[in-house]
Amino acid sequence: MRIYDIISKKRHGLSLSKEEIEFAVNGYVRGDIPDYQMSALLMAICINSMNEEETAILTKTMMNSGDVLDLSRFSNLTVDKHSTGGVGDKTTLIVAPIAASLGCKVAKMSGRGLGFTGGTVDKLEAISGYNTSLSVEDFFSQVEKIGIAVIGQTGNLAPADKKIYALRDVTATIDSVPLIASSIMSKKLAAGSSSIVLDVKCGSGAFMKDRAGAISLAEAMVKIGRSFGRRVRAVITNMDAPLGVCVGNSLEICEAVDVLKGRGDKKLTSLCLTLAANMVSLSFDIPYEEAYKKAVLSLESGKAFEKMLEWVSYQGGDVRPIKDTSLLPLAKHKVEVKSDFDGYVCRIDAEKIGLASMSLGAGRAKKDDKIDFGAGIVLKVGVSDKVSRGDVLAVAYASDKSLFDGAEKLIKEAFTFSDKKPEEKELILDTIS
Ligand code: URA
Repeated sequence: MRIYDIISKKRHGLSLSKEEIEFAVNGYVRGDIPDYQMSALLMAICINSMNEEETAILTKTMMNSGDVLDLSRFSNLTVDKHSTGGVGDKTTLIVAPIAASLGCKVAKMSGRGLGFTGGTVDKLEAISGYNTSLSVEDFFSQVEKIGIAVIGQTGNLAPADKKIYALRDVTATIDSVPLIASSIMSKKLAAGSSSIVLDVKCGSGAFMKDRAGAISLAEAMVKIGRSFGRRVRAVITNMDAPLGVCVGNSLEICEAVDVLKGRGDKKLTSLCLTLAANMVSLSFDIPYEEAYKKAVLSLESGKAFEKMLEWVSYQGGDVRPIKDTSLLPLAKHKVEVKSDFDGYVCRIDAEKIGLASMSLGAGRAKKDDKIDFGAGIVLKVGVSDKVSRGDVLAVAYASDKSLFDGAEKLIKEAFTFSDKKPEEKELILDTIS
């Protein structure tokens, strides 16, 4: 078999066999196939796509390139959730304790962020003492005892995806439904949960800019999961504006606590209840409506918040800043960003807010950059709010005052105004099951 012939076959729009896909992926991971040939193959896939069978084979090959966790001891109650990424997305911090408080087993490996803001693991590290790198034995034992553990992804989970993703990132080959679907699902399947809820973002701050693209990505992932015998549901959600009001690590922990205490942003709360209800519905095989009622009750009764305290404490974290969020680290300088216009807010560009938050120190521009947990942005107005010139749009936090100039400009650019009150867009657009 020659990689040249495999590239040529895909370039002419033909389907690849199992042997050909395995030859390409495993050869690339071993270093036998150079970057330039793998890049050519990835580009041919971007242009001519892959059918369902090829996508499932690619997923399986990447999944089997590293560790595959066996969670069968938790008898089908394990549930994972994945979001295709977004600015201000702190949903894991909220849905994981809700689902665990209702009996699900949440054994979750989360990522660090690159760009925009930190990932879930970075946010959790804003809590002093929280251990994001438990051994596999301790991870399992914690899930067994309290139903929840969230750690960083081990280096050996789908290493083929890691290498291919890094290449895609620099060769303009991210943007392909079979490549994104197989990349995400190879890691989710290797992480071992029986049920998987996918939050597929759609809009300016997401990979998928329109609803049709988000639906095809969601359908591809649900089909892959099913072909591996997992229960999978995808919720398609709007990502035109940042999620919730806080962007930044400590700030997002604080907002997650607010939601768990029943005083959080309404849209964020509603999305979290939807995701948690889907997790509970899949795990216990009960109707969504019944699961939704349970999720609401868990939040209202304080059970979900109690579960968060138990989880953080079990994983070595200091619970004092969870009980009193004023104790979370917050950068010492702040600036109020004020409106230069009168009118209704008709758009808050998620990408620009993400970039602003990164420039304040809340995200990484390069892999090894250090995150400032206390940096970030709190939005003071939302889409469709009326503002006057001089009103505060957002408050920016940074440890170094010189970072405010660039960030303030980006925050102002993120806001678009109009004379007429815009129609509010729904946050939850579709469910694919
Ligand atoms: N996230 C992933 O893990 N992979 C992709 O290809 C895109 C987003």
